[in-house]
Amino acid sequence: MNSILSSFIVFEGLDGSGKSTQARLLCRNLEKKGLDAVLTAEPTDNPVGCLVRQVLRHQVDTTSQALALLYAADRSDHLFNRNYGITKLLESGKTVISDRYFYSSLSYQGVTEDRTFLARINDYPHPEFVIFVDTPAEVCMQRIDKRGEEKELFDRLDYLRKVRANFLSVFSALPAGVKYLRVDGEKTISEQEEEISSFLSL
Ligand code: TYD
Repeated sequence: MNSILSSFIVFEGLDGSGKSTQARLLCRNLEKKGLDAVLTAEPTDNPVGCLVRQVLRHQVDTTSQALALLYAADRSDHLFNRNYGITKLLESGKTVISDRYFYSSLSYQGVTEDRTFLARINDYPHPEFVIFVDTPAEVCMQRIDKRGEEKELFDRLDYLRKVRANFLSVFSALPAGVKYLRVDGEKTISEQEEEISSFLSL
């Protein structure tokens, strides 16, 4: 599916990259401009997303292929749920910002799973805008360590390095019509915020 959802903005980046901070700031800035903006995230807080989080926290054990399918199922619900789906929000005139989307599946699950299989189970529409907060894996790991929280499944330097390489390759092959910005995640929070605002002509 090469269709593009207008007014849909996706943030991507490694764990600890700072993408969630920028997604929140952008939501606030859009609201300040009078737009009706909604911030959402994957994995979601809906039933399939909760199961995904249990796997990430090592509370449920499954195969990496099953996890890839769970992320894709969570995404289908996130997009198309008749009550709260992204497509429904967009149809009602909202601007939707998602903290992660299927590029995360292609990049994280792409470390272990077959690319063709991942592309097939993630045959979802692209967003109008993709913002990649690109922070070196070493810096992300330092930030994750500083949080002092229990490590999740993918919080490993060697893994994150591979994920970053996958992100770059996925973003180099985006279809025409998807507007893409790579932000240097080592710049200050407000420098990144400025770049994102000017990219979106705010
Ligand atoms: P993350 O954005 O870090 O969520 P939170 O900030 O709420 O902890 O996402 C959780 C993890 O899931 C992260 O390691 C990336 C991973 N992930 C995938 O591997 N594939 C996917 O399709 C998605 C959406 C996330």
